[in-house]
Amino acid sequence: MSELTRISVSLEAALLAAFDGYMKAKSYTTRSEAIRDLIRDRLVRQQSEEPTGEQVAIVILVYDHHAHDLASRLIDKQHHHHHVVVSSLHVHLGERHCLEVTVLRGPAAEVHQLGDELLAVKGVLHGEVVVTSGEGVFNRWS
Ligand code: NI
Repeated sequence: MSELTRISVSLEAALLAAFDGYMKAKSYTTRSEAIRDLIRDRLVRQQSEEPTGEQVAIVILVYDHHAHDLASRLIDKQHHHHHVVVSSLHVHLGERHCLEVTVLRGPAAEVHQLGDELLAVKGVLHGEVVVTSGEGVFNRWS
């Protein structure tokens, strides 16, 4: 970790109490670590809104593998963007439903497009795109 800079922050007592409650619920032992994580989270999210640069994202999909052509349509889309698909994990949730977790990394615009396309495939029952950043960003911040 690079050199730390100490800052002071003024908060209303009620806001601080709420933050301390959040910290405890999330198992943080220091306010500093909780605040650093919140700052990094906001910066990663802000950066993900920029259409350029490298983007890393995780796509979570739940679907019924009996749905007509659904699995093959998801695979077709991933093959079409194969250079941004790093890896996929497939879990059979039960007799009908599948959970798929896919890691994407590449040009931000393409990663976002593929994530949106996968979520929009008819028959996907639940899903989310979780964005994070690549090595370069975290190297700059630590
Ligand atoms: Ni399955």
